[in-house]
Amino acid sequence: MRIILLGAPGAGKGTQAQFLMAKFGIPQISTGDMLRAAIKAGTELGKQAKQVMDAGQLVSDELIIGLVKERIAQDDCKGGFLLDGFPRTIPQADAMKENGVSVDSVIEFDVADEVIVERMGGRRVHSGSGRVYHLVYNPPKVAGKDDETGEDLSIRPDDEESTVRKRLGIYHEQTKPLVDYYQAEASAGNCKYITMDGTQAVDAVSAQLAEQLA
Ligand code: AP5
Repeated sequence: MRIILLGAPGAGKGTQAQFLMAKFGIPQISTGDMLRAAIKAGTELGKQAKQVMDAGQLVSDELIIGLVKERIAQDDCKGGFLLDGFPRTIPQADAMKENGVSVDSVIEFDVADEVIVERMGGRRVHSGSGRVYHLVYNPPKVAGKDDETGEDLSIRPDDEESTVRKRLGIYHEQTKPLVDYYQAEASAGNCKYITMDGTQAVDAVSAQLAEQLA
């Protein structure tokens, strides 16, 4: 099963990726998490990505395409994968196609910008695993701690309101065209296209996803 999660920053891609990974036993390929891991490790890639990400801009297509190509070639992706945050531009989607990587389902999470801005203020993350929480809508069992490891949760540097608004602008300009792109792919019979109302409660979105992907 090969799935693309499409949607604005904060639409719930990472949250539902946790659910889908557990349900279908496929790995999550989150380009954001991969870049944050590279920053933490202080690699050359991380050094190049840090400033761009903190400013809410997109990392270059060339760099991201290389990263995903390498990741998809690994053994654990043979039975399928969940792309979270990729593709994010038309050239990234074209690169996938040119490399013969097909997908079964594209899931779009539809959430209005103002809801997203409000959500991001309450987001907390476990940087080691990429697990995502929300102070109100998806709280951890113990305040400020990751459910699995008990380690501290943190605030992402790009969750500051002005940066979120910048990321939303880039989403509408560069990523939203992928909605038409993949709807056309679905019309041509190349994949299934599913639109989810991402403003429902987390569990309600998961339940609908399970139904749609059954
Ligand atoms: P990335 O890490 O991919 O961030 P993003 O796409 O901006 O998405 P987010 O992780 O912010 O949001 P999400 O949709 O996963 O929402 P979440 O589930 O956390 O990318 C970061 C940066 O890396 C980019 O800006 C760019 O610089 C670079 N980058 C990455 N990929 C790239 C690429 N392909 N090309 C170029 N550059 C790239 O949910 C958000 C909050 O809402 C959480 O607190 C959650 O608990 C809560 N929540 C979730 N669902 C619900 C719900 N149904 N109801 C209420 N609250 C909810």
